[in-house]
Amino acid sequence: MTTVGIDAVEIWTGNLKLDLPGTFAPQMGEDPEKYTKGLGLNASSFPDSYEDIVTMGANAAYRLMDRKGLEPEDIGRIDVATESAFDNSKPVSTYVAGCLEQVYEGDFHHANKGERKFACIAGTQSLDDAYNWIKAGRHRGRAAIVIATDTALYARGDAGEATQGAGAVAMLISEDPSLVELSIEQGYGSADETDFLKPNQQFPSVDGKRSVQVYLARMREALEDFESIAGDSHPDQYAYIPFHTPFPGMVRKAGLLGYRHMIRDTEIEDELAAEIGRQPRAEAFDDEEAFREALREYMDSLKETETYQDWYAKTIDPTLTLSREVGNWYTGSVHVARASVLKHGLENDLDLTGSKLLVGSYGSGAEAEIHAETIQEGWREEIAALNVDEQLAARYDLTWDDYEEIHDAHNHDMDVDIEPRTTPDAEFVFDGWGRMGERK
Ligand code: CAA
Repeated sequence: MTTVGIDAVEIWTGNLKLDLPGTFAPQMGEDPEKYTKGLGLNASSFPDSYEDIVTMGANAAYRLMDRKGLEPEDIGRIDVATESAFDNSKPVSTYVAGCLEQVYEGDFHHANKGERKFACIAGTQSLDDAYNWIKAGRHRGRAAIVIATDTALYARGDAGEATQGAGAVAMLISEDPSLVELSIEQGYGSADETDFLKPNQQFPSVDGKRSVQVYLARMREALEDFESIAGDSHPDQYAYIPFHTPFPGMVRKAGLLGYRHMIRDTEIEDELAAEIGRQPRAEAFDDEEAFREALREYMDSLKETETYQDWYAKTIDPTLTLSREVGNWYTGSVHVARASVLKHGLENDLDLTGSKLLVGSYGSGAEAEIHAETIQEGWREEIAALNVDEQLAARYDLTWDDYEEIHDAHNHDMDVDIEPRTTPDAEFVFDGWGRMGERK
């Protein structure tokens, strides 16, 4: 059977950096450890004045096509996932294709273009669309480009302000992929929720505390749904579990919840029984609140065990390395988490070919999706080609005054024009409305 999955990936970060413990915390009057230890973030990527979702997406896609030696005729589909779109009609993928057509002799007239919106899960949904298109045999031998691009900015003073970020991930989806094969099995957890929304507004209205609970509830449902077709999952089955990462502290909660679920009725629960007892079973309680309290106590004990901490350090923590430095990229975030673990594998010279990933995506509003991926033989070469470390090191470190000015410049309700803080080192820059993503 044909294998379909991600053949190659490129990451494009916003060119500015906001230091959370050093610059943000003092202004907020908060302990820096709230950000570094609590939320798990050191910094966020921020777009310079000449960057937006189109230029970041087009720059990532161009790097991808150039590195893989692709021409427009090799691409049958360009899908953009974003929750930062500025046009309610024309999809961002048409703007991106317009940029790319300035570089290539051929054009993308033959390519299907679309835009996916469902908060942060849209990047994975676009991946699924491309997978289905190829599996259905409609691709005529061509590959798809999926771009997840966002400027994840919050209103000044919003609790989410510490979790901002900006960047794009471009992925090439094809037959016989070099990086990962996607599983046919998927699980979903979806419900009509209002944890995070943007009804015709640039900055989101967020019920932050509730959004954390909704994330966990939908993720648990998605895992159960996945298991209903793929069979029960075991913690040792997956080399890594990349989750959607709005901030690493969120993934700490998701990891613990997933582990508790996966060890139920396994030898791990048996081994831990002497130390912390067995998990409470709902059927043993008449009172729902008493059951919840017993479960909370069990989770608190589980979190402290060496068995859990070793598993977390091995399976989840390496997914968070990039996220700690870039913040939330919304649609790109789970794809940054995947790149992070594969980078970890490369840096530690691990033999990952054939290993499995369990990928947990989430979008507010709300939906979670779980699917598995198998790492392919060409992963080393693909990941070695990423220049994300160089990009991160080249970011300009914002002072507080810079940050206030840049945030205003990106606020569509304000008419603020500023000098860029960095010199563009990119194929495409934003040069004003009507001249979107012009070549520099
Ligand atoms: N040292 C160590 N830890 C500290 C600390 C200190 N000095 N001070 C606080 N902390 C810890 C807190 O205990 C807390 O950890 P736990 O949740 O594990 O208890 C953590 O730091 C954060 O502290 P607060 O809860 O007090 O932080 P807050 O209320 O200011 O903001 C938030 C937290 C509500 C999540 C906010 O960041 C937010 O609104 N974020 C945007 C929404 C979001 O990202 N939601 C995630 C799920 S929705 C989603 O995933 C979609 C999406 O991308 C947006």
